[in-house]
Amino acid sequence: MSAVAPQAPATAMVQRRPQRLDAWWVKPVITAAVLGAFVVYATWAGLQNANYYAAPYLSPFYSPCLSANCAHVSVPLLGDWWKWSPAILILWAPGGFRLTCYYYRKAYYRAFVWAPPACAVPDARAKYFGESRFPLILQNIHRYFFYLSIPVLVFLWWDALLAFRFRDGIGLGVGTLVLLANASLLTLYTLSCHACRHVCGGGLDRFSKAPTRYRLWKRLTVLNEWHAQIAWFSLFGVALTDLYVRLVATGTLRDLRLF
Ligand code: FES
Repeated sequence: MSAVAPQAPATAMVQRRPQRLDAWWVKPVITAAVLGAFVVYATWAGLQNANYYAAPYLSPFYSPCLSANCAHVSVPLLGDWWKWSPAILILWAPGGFRLTCYYYRKAYYRAFVWAPPACAVPDARAKYFGESRFPLILQNIHRYFFYLSIPVLVFLWWDALLAFRFRDGIGLGVGTLVLLANASLLTLYTLSCHACRHVCGGGLDRFSKAPTRYRLWKRLTVLNEWHAQIAWFSLFGVALTDLYVRLVATGTLRDLRLF
């Protein structure tokens, strides 16, 4: 008679009180503070509907600017009947891309709902369903946000190119470098995305049949290993770029012209 193997529990739950003696709570607390501050700042900046353009610099929170009322129109998709902030028309796409990002999901589940807050620390809630139910099952739309993020990225590069074009001709200001750095960081963030890696190298039975995709996948894998770090740098980058444009637009800061 063959022995029946015991059934493993559906999910591994840590039942005991924390066994860790180190300050495991520091990381989730810092994550909650930084992500919370970013969400508050981005919401505030996105709703301002002012000081988002300091020629030739356009804030990334407002790019592409889609209404005819924009201080700097990228594509006049909507007429001047749109009276609200043009950031509302676009921020949901990069916002959704970050919100559903595999790395950020881990970070904010740990920071805000303590599910779990750290390794070997029990979940705050008794039950854990993962992302198998509504609403968290919607996190699976991440790959579609990845597709949407690509045209936004193209516009950010276009804005960075326009940042060389001053009223008196071609030049280079600190703001130009800021916009270039922001577009570069966001490109790295998008290319290091897990969905990007899968689009380029996933769904193949044999890499030998698709050597180009394999080479691409290998390069993206190197980037993907740094996705968490790039996620933070690009988050700070986009907020600081908006802040820079805002300070120049309000006259608080003078943009230094390098040539
Ligand atoms: S952007 Fe983070 S996994 Fe896709």
